[in-house]
Amino acid sequence: MRTVAQTPAIRIDSLLSETDERSLAYDVLDGLTRPFKEIPPKHFYDARGSELFEQICELPEYYPTRTEREILHARASEIVERTHAGELVELGSGSAEKARILLAAMSNAGTLRRYVPVDVSEAALEAAAVELVDEFEELNVHGVIGDFERHLDRVPRSRSETPRIVALLGGTIGNFPPGTRRRLLREVGKLLAPSDRLLLGTDLVKDPRRLEAAYDDSQGITAEFNRNVLRVINRELDADFSPEAFEHIAFYDQAREWVEMRLRATRPCSVRVTGLGLRVEFAAGEELRTEISAKFTRERVEADFAAAGLSLECWYTDSDRLFAMSLARRV
Ligand code: SAH
Ligand code: AVI
Repeated sequence: MRTVAQTPAIRIDSLLSETDERSLAYDVLDGLTRPFKEIPPKHFYDARGSELFEQICELPEYYPTRTEREILHARASEIVERTHAGELVELGSGSAEKARILLAAMSNAGTLRRYVPVDVSEAALEAAAVELVDEFEELNVHGVIGDFERHLDRVPRSRSETPRIVALLGGTIGNFPPGTRRRLLREVGKLLAPSDRLLLGTDLVKDPRRLEAAYDDSQGITAEFNRNVLRVINRELDADFSPEAFEHIAFYDQAREWVEMRLRATRPCSVRVTGLGLRVEFAAGEELRTEISAKFTRERVEADFAAAGLSLECWYTDSDRLFAMSLARRV
């Protein structure tokens, strides 16, 4: 662990070493040598990828961000009143835009103490920490640059009896396949003391046309975000992907109730990944899966919670039932 920033109000630790940066090398070696090629979505988020994600959040077609924000605006005070929380741990915090709403409610309630953002994206995390301590003078930020699939045991423990909210927002839990998702929820549950609560954001099952538009916007920002993973591999592993040779694909799988993003080779491509001593062939039309984004019902959330040793306490949704936020405790 390295402490990469320290001021009276901010401490940021990095758990990512130079050689182990987001486990990219392992994931690329595994993922590109499978019969059906696949790269996990966490590798989208270098500084450029995080910036593109922020642009996605502003798109007219991409309703999850503004809908979750709307739910939080309506419910944050109630959530803080119910939990008495003074600390917020956020996994996959990104720009921390939604954290701000919860922190403001804690500040208004007089309970606010500490924010613990955890993200693989160093740039996003540092910028958020600086902005937030400026906004809330009573706030301390202890950020962790790390992988919440591997480093949850290194998330700082609560310093006092202050109840905490552990948040996983934006529908990020949907980016994991069902088994991994339940395992991750179980691990997240281990962070919860009896008075702590999990706050989970989940995108809901809906009209496939609305879902597909959200992942294939008319300005092509999501396509750029998707191709960004190839740029990350080129830079970090000295590879020679031609991103423009790959077409953005997004479709809703009705049987599995998830959106898939893929990159399809528009011509045969022979890619050298020098950092891994690997050559990978793509036939024309061959696809690389880069993300799944599962959509939920209340029943699916409750079943996942039960399998992970958690129990649903409150279910908050918007008037159009597009997105849901769940407050849960450990059983
Ligand atoms: N919570 C924010 C951001 C969602 S984007 C919102 O709701 O808008 C997903 C975020 O999770 C990105 O910032 C990405 O860097 C981070 N992320 C994805 N996989 C991660 C992992 N395994 N460990 C830590 N952070 C991860
Ligand atoms: C971060 N995650 C929840 C987003 C999603 O909707 O699955 C990532 C994303 N992919 C394409 N657009 C946004």
